[in-house]
Amino acid sequence: TDPARIRNFCIIAHIDHGKSTLADRMLQLTEVVDPRQMRAQYLDRMDIERERGITIKSQAVRMPWTIRAGERAGEQAVLNMIDTPGHVDFTYEVSRSLAACEGAVLLVDAAQGIEAQTLANLYLALENDLHIIPVLNKIDLPAAQPEKYAEELAHLIGGQPEDCLRVSGKTGEGVAHLLDEIVRQFTPPVGEADAPARAMIFDSVYDIYRGVVTYVRVIDGKIEARDRIKMMSTGAAHELLEIGVISPEMVKSPGLGVGEVGYLITGVKDVRQSRVGDTITINGRPATEALGGYKDPKPMVYSGLYPIDGSDYPALRDALDKLKLNDAALTYEPETSAALGFGFRCGFLGLLHLEIIGERLEREFGLDLISTAPNVVYRVIMDDGSEITVTNPSEFPAGKVAEVYEPVVRATVLTPNDYVGAVMELCQGRRGSLLGMDYLSTDRVELRYTLPLAEIIFDFFDQLKSRTKGYASLDYEPSGEQKADLVKVDILLHGEPVDAFSAIVHKDKAYNYGVNIASKLQKLIPRQQFEVPIQAAIGSRVIARETIRAIRKDVLAKCYGGDITRKRKLLEKQKEGKKRMKMVGRVEVPQEAFIAALSTS
Ligand code: GTP
Repeated sequence: TDPARIRNFCIIAHIDHGKSTLADRMLQLTEVVDPRQMRAQYLDRMDIERERGITIKSQAVRMPWTIRAGERAGEQAVLNMIDTPGHVDFTYEVSRSLAACEGAVLLVDAAQGIEAQTLANLYLALENDLHIIPVLNKIDLPAAQPEKYAEELAHLIGGQPEDCLRVSGKTGEGVAHLLDEIVRQFTPPVGEADAPARAMIFDSVYDIYRGVVTYVRVIDGKIEARDRIKMMSTGAAHELLEIGVISPEMVKSPGLGVGEVGYLITGVKDVRQSRVGDTITINGRPATEALGGYKDPKPMVYSGLYPIDGSDYPALRDALDKLKLNDAALTYEPETSAALGFGFRCGFLGLLHLEIIGERLEREFGLDLISTAPNVVYRVIMDDGSEITVTNPSEFPAGKVAEVYEPVVRATVLTPNDYVGAVMELCQGRRGSLLGMDYLSTDRVELRYTLPLAEIIFDFFDQLKSRTKGYASLDYEPSGEQKADLVKVDILLHGEPVDAFSAIVHKDKAYNYGVNIASKLQKLIPRQQFEVPIQAAIGSRVIARETIRAIRKDVLAKCYGGDITRKRKLLEKQKEGKKRMKMVGRVEVPQEAFIAALSTS
């Protein structure tokens, strides 16, 4: 295809502002999807995505379009719509998808206005020098206020309120005009047709039938069906088995040239060999310089995953091996916990990533799992100058620590004016520092904070929502690290540390953490033949204490509420064998007690 006819674009929007619905309408209008095969949200392929209504994996669709109205009516174009994942955990993938485009449709719900993700995605698009077309969606809604929000958008990105297009993804109104404007306003790709090939990988997915399918945007030169390709980050060469475009299913083509977007199949079985952001070139005539912007995915949040039934451990390992094929960011290594048995310490991009993996393990692999409280990665400098990376709180060194660094994020919070005080109070309580504050309109405020990532992953979003009656929205991106006054709090049962409850917390919060966990365990752990102290300690200094008093008779009576059938069930479970009882030193603890303490912490 002549690059002059190509337009590569993406749609960026806050969650639920209607991106998938609009994409569906575009597929229909451009006739790449047969109306009879049209199903809601055609592009969201994974079940979990559909159920949660979020898009995790980006994809690209090629759509022919001929300008319908106005001066350039009749002009033919090829549109490549690149889908971007919508959540903060996947910022890097979003940035690579944006880098594959020349333009972005900035979609805003006309009944909601600009939200935090709208802004975060807009900033990323501007960093990638994309042309922006502002669009108000859902104008069919009675509550829509297109005039008001067109003003807001114009104020935000410059230009006039009239430049803001109005559409309804639901009824299709305005969508043909939007497609016309995409051809008119976005610039065609430029690249050197005769140069050695360079293509950027913006997505890579594992397919059980075909192996890894790699999505690329060609920048220079071309890739042809019989080429041997080379990954520039590793130097690994692969035979091309197939090359083509998505429209909206895979269609083979003889090759891809400058500006084109499509897929490659090489027979590799693991997405780690075909990483997002990497540059592909031709083995026989390689480019000398890779395209910029490649980064190794780096886990930001760690958690221990343990099968509730210890005999599921091999099944958990197999399931993780399988998920890894499709997820270059997932890491895991075996770990043993005195409280929870054999499991894995897993690394994730963020909380949503963690939840998705947990849910897939339970749903697709039928595993019952317990996970430890998520923690971030700490960099610890010792007195002798050596450095340790801590991904598990129980491995935090006990003494001789000179400095500790924790990861921080730049957070954007959008809130109605009335809740500014509540949001500030929350952020301050979470050790945030205010970077700036702007009024988007008379009643809506953008607050920018630096916050420790550890404070965000601990129910920050829920707190934000409840303090603002659901009106505030949040987005954040990694922003380096800061030195902090952090300590490890251990929980000791009869003098023995219980690894699953060790936590790294700010020194001002250590006492609260200790009291909270100790009192929880005190209620959950059955009485023993002897008195059992539960202590929270920093090093050898005890900061909180509870006691489980000794008892001889009914082990369960005081520990689990009054329901007799439940007690009987528990007794039967205990009879199943001692395997569900964990020994912490001399103390016998039903695994259920640990699970209950972890799941509510
Ligand atoms: P994520 O992929 O989760 O970010 O969401 P999305 O932005 O793709 O939103 P989606 O297309 O799933 O739409 C969210 C909700 O808004 C759905 O319930 C849609 O039916 C509804 N919706 C989307 N577009 C319109 C519209 O133009 N009018 C009306 N009335 N509802 C719409």
